Parts: sequence; C-alpha cells; structure tokens
Amino acid sequence: MAKIISIANQKGGVGKTTTTTSIGSILASQGFKVLLLDLDDQNDLTLSLPISLSGQTDLFKCIFELGFAKGVKVNPNLVVIPGSPKLQPINFSERIKQHEAYEYENPRFVLKKFLTQIKDKCDFILMDCPPNEELIVQNAFAASDYVIIPTIPHSFSINGVNAVLRLIQKFQKINPELEPLGILITIYDKRNNIDKGVYELCLEQYPSLLFKTPIRINSKLRENSHLGIEIIEYAKQLAENKYPSKFTGYEEFLAVTDELIGRLKMSIA
Ligand SMILES: Nc1ncnc2c1ncn2[C@@H]1O[C@H](COP(=O)(O)OP(=O)(O)OP(=O)(O)O)[C@@H](O)[C@H]1O
Ligand SMILES: [Mg+2]
Repeated sequence: MAKIISIANQKGGVGKTTTTTSIGSILASQGFKVLLLDLDDQNDLTLSLPISLSGQTDLFKCIFELGFAKGVKVNPNLVVIPGSPKLQPINFSERIKQHEAYEYENPRFVLKKFLTQIKDKCDFILMDCPPNEELIVQNAFAASDYVIIPTIPHSFSINGVNAVLRLIQKFQKINPELEPLGILITIYDKRNNIDKGVYELCLEQYPSLLFKTPIRINSKLRENSHLGIEIIEYAKQLAENKYPSKFTGYEEFLAVTDELIGRLKMSIA
C-alpha cells in the first residue's frame, strides 16, 4: 500500500515543487514505484520533468472525465499525473458540485476516493500542493498519510510552518491517519546568520520533525527543473562532464530521502 505524502506550505516559492520532484526522482532511482500528482494549476511540477504534454491526460480529466488514473511515464519507476489550469479553486469546486459521482459527497474526499484505485499499485504517492489552503489542498490533506513542509529560513517563515501544522491538526478530525512527516529547510545560506538562526530555532521547537539536512542555495537545482531534466539524470550528466564543483542540492536531497525512508521504516520490496 502506497504511503501518500502531501508536500505543502501556503507560502509561495519555498521549494515545494523542487522537493517533490527531487525526492520522487531519487526514490524511483532506488527502486521504489513512485506516482507524482501535480495539484497546482500552474503545472510547475509537470513542466520540470522530461515529458511532453501534448495529447496527455491530466489530473482534472482523470478525476472528472476518465474516472481512473492515467499517468505519464517519466521512467519505469516514476509516473506523473500532470496538473491543469482547471484545478483553479473556483473551477475545481464548481466541477465537484456538478459531477454526478460527487454531487452528494463531501467535496474534500474526491481525491481520496480517486486514489483508492491506485494505492496498492505503488510505494509512494507524492502530491505537490499549490501555495494555498483551498479545496484541492484540503483534498490532499484528507487523502494523505503524511505531510512534508518545506520552508525557507526567513524569520516569518516559521508562521507558515505553524499554519500547516495547525491545518494538519484540523484535518486529523476527518483523517486520523494524517501526520507531519518532517519540516525541510530549503534555499538555505549557511553563511547567513538569519538562516542559521532559523535552522536552530526549528531544531529547538521541532527536534523530531526537522530534517537534519537543509537544502542549500544551489543554482543547479534551478537549472535541472528549468531544463526539464530529472535531478538524478542531471547529477549523472554533471559527473560525466566532470563538472568541477559538487552538485550539493542532489547530495542533500539524497540525505533527506534517506532520512525520510528511515522515518517511514521502509525498505525496497
Ligand atoms: N535550493 C535551491 N537553490 C536555488 N534555487 C532553488 C532551490 N530550491 C528551489 N529553488 C528555486 O526557487 C524557485 C521556487 O522553488 P519551487 O518552485 O520549488 O517552490 P514552490 O514552493 O513550489 O513555489 P510555488 O509556491 O510557487 O508553487 C524555483 O525557481 C526553484 O528552481
Ligand atoms: Mg510549486
């Protein structure tokens, strides 16, 4: 049965999409079967992967038209269901009200219902949430076992983390399985005192939740998503071309993925 994990923070630009694609790509390279769901109407996750979107299906179509999951293969272990502009909050909630299968259902359980048919076909389902608390994110929290909270190390960002933790608590009323899996500091500058201070504060406040490895600022991470190359492939390309400096973003996401597997007590089947 897949572990279903939302990657969420209502603050924008904190590394949610980068975290989802990087961890997803690394887990798949380690032999896990991984399904990525792009819940964002901006489609960033989908655009940062090496797939062509023409003629492909998307999450909106899968839920409301096909009624089953039809993803796009990135590699034999990694499949993505693309996002869609139709996932925009107003459109998504209107469509639920109009759809005969969901008309009389709790609108927060649409995704959960949809995922029941694919849960036993993979090891991980990772859901990249948009930066809000709208119905699609509520659906993600109602359907998930865990939430990973990426955050940048700015003084105000701790409020964003606390807001996600409060939302998790609220959703435990309708989804008792839901738990925070970890807080991940991203876009981290180890020479900056504010960044170091926020890391220390998170470690003090959330010792068991904070992933010990922060993801430092690394332009290679921006490049690989901009070029639409999986992190694991980009790491190989840089090594083959004898790129002189380390791909720190890749090494740090490897460490975070190890920590995640350890927390979940998983091993490759
Ligand atoms: N460690 C890093 N170093 C440098 N740039 C990074 C790093 N992590 C992410 N970025 C870049 O920062 C930008 C925001 O990252 P990302 O898209 O992952 O955030 P997000 O939380 O998903 O944003 P949104 O809320 O808009 O969905 C992107 O351009 C991404 O390539
Ligand atoms: Mg994003």
